[in-house]
Amino acid sequence: MDIPALFHESEQKICRAANLRELEEVRIALLGKKGQLTGLLRSLAELPLQERKHLGADLNGLRENIQILLAERQRTLEEEETTQGLAREGIDITLPGIPPLRGRRHVLLETVEEIEDAFLRLGFDIVEGPEVEWDYYNFEALNMPAEHPARDMWDTFYITERMLLRTHTSPVQIRCMEETPPPIRAIMPGLVARHEALDSTHMDVFFQIEGLVVDKGISFANLKGILDLFVAMIFGSERKTMFVPSYFPFTEPSAELMISCGVCGGSGCQTCGHGGGWLEVLGCGQVHPQVLRNVGIDPEAFTGFAFGLGAERVAMLKYNIPDIRLFAENDLRFLEQF
Ligand code: PHE
Repeated sequence: MDIPALFHESEQKICRAANLRELEEVRIALLGKKGQLTGLLRSLAELPLQERKHLGADLNGLRENIQILLAERQRTLEEEETTQGLAREGIDITLPGIPPLRGRRHVLLETVEEIEDAFLRLGFDIVEGPEVEWDYYNFEALNMPAEHPARDMWDTFYITERMLLRTHTSPVQIRCMEETPPPIRAIMPGLVARHEALDSTHMDVFFQIEGLVVDKGISFANLKGILDLFVAMIFGSERKTMFVPSYFPFTEPSAELMISCGVCGGSGCQTCGHGGGWLEVLGCGQVHPQVLRNVGIDPEAFTGFAFGLGAERVAMLKYNIPDIRLFAENDLRFLEQF
């Protein structure tokens, strides 16, 4: 048997295979079950021992070499097919890639999480409530029965006569007190809605964070202490705070927390305008005894304080953002600054 001739013949067949399918046909014809070489190897059994040993070694060597050739040719053909495929589709793999556009966290979300972190460090829990709320929780339980004139402060969108989009996160105070007995120390973040004309400081949907503390002996001094710490943590300890009397039906006494203007430092400028050096941050007060009674807490045994802040407002004051609508416009020129 002429092994070199056989090798040469096989080599030619392998080289002539023009694509992977043809190469596979060659492989089957040589090494398949009914292949040429397989047949030869099988016929060895009929030979006398001496000859079988000799020829067997040669044929096995031949098979190994053929396998190497097949593998090499397969690699070449695969590469060719890839290149041709790329060329057909007009893809130039040597061009530099287009870097994917990396997003970043929205400045409002960052502010919310910063505020949440501050209160978590002060020992507060985070509690959430529904955005679609009953009239009872949004108004009535907060000491605003039907026809109460203070309801005008919070006009909203009604789903039914008794169901509405909550106008503040204060209803979560009620849900929180209904569910857990005091002591309570929680903040309640979430979206709220108001039926309101849009301008640079008003939006119909915005983000609030409510705070509630109820325990034995909680006083207005505790409220001032916590909010002073909050201002120092979020705006820096150089900001001064001031509490101005205000009115909310669910707190008594009620106040508005003001901080000194970060732009002029308190002397009065365009940013603080009519505030004369002061900027309003949030509403707050001692929880009204009637609110405690509404949830079955004895106001003689327990007292508390609450506050509610607009997250957009905090971000605006922190970063001197002039228009609240910027938060919702998704203009990259605005968002990329933070
Ligand atoms: N809920 C009030 C508002 O949206 C804010 C507030 C909360 C005031 C808690 C006092 C206590 O205007």
